[in-house]
Amino acid sequence: MALDTYYTLGRSGLRVSPLALGTMTFGQSDWGADAETSGQIFDAYLEAGGNFVDTANAYSGGASEELVGKLLAERGIRDRTVLSTKFTLGARPGDPNLAGNGRKAMLRCLEDSLRRLGTDYIDLYIMHAWDGLTPVEEVMRGMDDLVSSGKVRYIAFSDVPAWYAARAQTLAEWRDYAPLIALQLEYSLAERGLEYEFPSLAQELGMGLMTWGPLAKGLLSGKYSADASATEDLPEGRVKVAAIHRPSQDNRSERNWRIVTELAAVAEEVGRSPAEVAVNWVANRPAVGSVLLGASKLHQIQSTVTSLDFTLPEELRHRLDEISAPPAAVPYSFMTLLQGGLNADVRNKPAGYSAQA
Ligand SMILES: NC(=O)c1ccc[n+]([C@@H]2O[C@H](COP(=O)([O-])OP(=O)(O)OC[C@H]3O[C@@H](n4cnc5c(N)ncnc54)[C@H](OP(=O)(O)O)[C@@H]3O)[C@@H](O)[C@H]2O)c1
Repeated sequence: MALDTYYTLGRSGLRVSPLALGTMTFGQSDWGADAETSGQIFDAYLEAGGNFVDTANAYSGGASEELVGKLLAERGIRDRTVLSTKFTLGARPGDPNLAGNGRKAMLRCLEDSLRRLGTDYIDLYIMHAWDGLTPVEEVMRGMDDLVSSGKVRYIAFSDVPAWYAARAQTLAEWRDYAPLIALQLEYSLAERGLEYEFPSLAQELGMGLMTWGPLAKGLLSGKYSADASATEDLPEGRVKVAAIHRPSQDNRSERNWRIVTELAAVAEEVGRSPAEVAVNWVANRPAVGSVLLGASKLHQIQSTVTSLDFTLPEELRHRLDEISAPPAAVPYSFMTLLQGGLNADVRNKPAGYSAQA
């Protein structure tokens, strides 16, 4: 499937590619891409037909937005591109309202992002994370005002609890605010925590999942293996940076090495790279609207934009589902058990039946 096979995101009319370009690496000196490589990554994504580009005010201290703005302007494609950016992060000592989700921070961050991106509107403005403090009423009214002002077309949340997104969306429905059309959350074979709540939430309330981290920071890319999992044996990249400098983000575990090994076997059988199979798996999960691709090098994006060009046979998909299955958890497991008994006599309705008919 080409990236110019567009989908509407959530319950909206916004048409996006099923794979989006994440630009967190752009201008990132540690494990990212310099301006030239960022431009090459950007062009490779566009050449594959992609129209959906994601950044954030905090990525590379604002350098990502500046680079994206410059690339869009140079190529004259601002209007054809669906551009998303975010607020919430980027705190500075002594300036508490530069970050968080209050109205003052939200407006200031938007003005700064518009300036760095060299545009007068954002297609999808995303609250980057729940700050744990700002009332949801203030966030939703503030974001609705931004839509009314014309500076923002659509809105979304990232990294929030399900209850918070559900409350926000219900408030939007009842108060006639602009609705959330997407939820940006981490999702990969290695990280399936969102499955307990979010796919059903997204489908029920009209939000598309815009997932990040399909390769678990590169762990699922095919360049790592259980045989060379010691820190000193790791190839250069984000996994090694995390192993050495950010232990809280070190995602090497016995479970994940089992997934890496099975993924490599499945990839071999289907004749694709592990990275392509890992992205394909996420993109075909329930409620997923668009999967964010990240790359620090040109060859990486070239090898993942093709991830939807094949169908993963059911048996191979099942093997990946099994090896990475998240543990059963209460209340979901018990609730499902009870529903099994409760609904045993209820049959599926015939095709074409509609409650409204
Ligand atoms: N909302 C949020 O909180 C949030 C958080 C994170 C990211 N995001 C968004 O999601 C995007 C993608 O996230 P992510 O970067 O974490 O995704 P990811 O797919 O988990 O990791 C991407 C990294 O994997 C490695 N890689 C990618 N393709 C490869 C290939 N073919 N072969 C070998 N290595 C490969 C590269 O790292 P190395 O070269 O360093 O190995 C690359 O930077 C970001 O750009 C950003 O837009 C959002």
